[in-house]
Amino acid sequence: MSQMEIIIQPTAEQATAIAAGIISKLVREKPKPVLGLATGSTPQKLYRMLVDMQLDWREVVTFNLDEYVGLAPTDENSYRKFMWDHLFDHVNIAGKNVHIPSGEAKNIPWSCSRYEQKIRAAGGVDLQVLGIGTEGHIGFNEATSSLASRTRIKTLTKETRKANARFFGSYDKVPHHVITMGIGTIMEARQCLLLAFGNKKAGAVAAMVEGPITSWVPASVLQMHPRVVVCVDEAAASRLKKADYYRWTYENKPDWQRF
Ligand code: GLP
Repeated sequence: MSQMEIIIQPTAEQATAIAAGIISKLVREKPKPVLGLATGSTPQKLYRMLVDMQLDWREVVTFNLDEYVGLAPTDENSYRKFMWDHLFDHVNIAGKNVHIPSGEAKNIPWSCSRYEQKIRAAGGVDLQVLGIGTEGHIGFNEATSSLASRTRIKTLTKETRKANARFFGSYDKVPHHVITMGIGTIMEARQCLLLAFGNKKAGAVAAMVEGPITSWVPASVLQMHPRVVVCVDEAAASRLKKADYYRWTYENKPDWQRF
């Protein structure tokens, strides 16, 4: 079965609950599950729900999508800090199983290829959680990123720095450079689970699902991925032309296809 499945729910809470159900099933059923994780506002509820589920994380291995260059792991705005605050500090994960690109690596190309090696050594990512930028980026793969790209350094666009300025208090404080898994890296995950909520994401979601596949909208390459679930609220779905069809499909899923 190869498909992008669009699940539209009335609220972000309900869409997140479906995503949490998919992840918890994997964590319960697969020995040594490998999760790809994301940061940002979007997955915060997801992590809260996963914490509340009290799953056993001892065997879980995680790889985060991205990190800012130049921020210490203890920096309030580092994605490492975000992940420990929102998830890892509240579950019984082993610190050695957590992987986040290093924003302080001296040799960035070397540490990026080492990151890729570690993903391979762990057996590849079973399920990659994704958010989406308002311009359609995934991870920090900005528009025009190579669709075959691997983990590497990227320069943020003005739009992304502006969008993330809310976390830093001011636009000037947002770093210019980041390390991100590439689009090729993300595409190798066995399953992708993308969440998007709110009107601000409606254009990006429509372009990803119904637009042409183009590096202009990096998320659109997910149309080529064998197994993607997109969990959105009504607001983020508001510009999808075939929204009714996706709703009907989800409501009438054969039992054997249900999560
Ligand atoms: C950043 C992150 C992405 C995230 C995006 C959207 O650019 N690197 O992984 O998906 O922002 O963020 P938010 O969920 O806060 O809207």
